[in-house]
Amino acid sequence: MTMISKKMQEALNMQVNDELWSAYLYLSMSMDAEAKGLRGVAHWMYVQWQEELGHARRLQCYMIGQNARVELMPITEVPTSWNTPLSMFKDSLVHEKEITKAFNNLTTLAIDEGDYATYNCLQWFVDEQVEEEATVRDIIDQLDMAGGDNLGLYFIDHQLSERKNPNC
Ligand SMILES: [Fe+2]
Repeated sequence: MTMISKKMQEALNMQVNDELWSAYLYLSMSMDAEAKGLRGVAHWMYVQWQEELGHARRLQCYMIGQNARVELMPITEVPTSWNTPLSMFKDSLVHEKEITKAFNNLTTLAIDEGDYATYNCLQWFVDEQVEEEATVRDIIDQLDMAGGDNLGLYFIDHQLSERKNPNC
C-alpha cells in the first residue's frame, strides 16, 4: 500500500516526467551552444542537464520510499536551436517559472490532503526554484548588458565555463 494518495502519486509521476523533459531541454541547449562555439554556455547547460536528472531522481527516490509506483512516460520533443544565448536563457527562465508553478500546485495539493511528508519533500524543490530563477535572471541581465558586443559575450561565456559540476 502506498502511503500517498493516488492523486498525489499521479501528480508526482507527472513531475518526474517534467524534470526529465527539463533535462532534455538543457541538453538540447548544450548541444546547440556547442555547435555555435559557445563552450562556456554549453558547459553550463550540460551541468544543468545533470542537475535536472538529479531532480527527477530525488522525486523517484521519494516515491519509492512511499511505496508509490514510478511509471516513466514519453519525453516530448524539445527545441533544438536558439538565435542567441540571450534567447536561450530567456527560454530557460520561462521554463523555470512554469516548473515553479508546478511545485506550487503540488504543494497546495499536499496541504489540501494533509500530506505533510510530501509537503516536506516539496519544500526542497520550492527553495531550489527560487535559486534557479535567480541564477538564470542574473545571466540574462549580464547578456542584456553585453548587448551584441562580442567581447562581452566572450567574457560571459568564459565565466559560465567555470560552473561547478555537482557530480564530480
Ligand atoms: Fe528541476
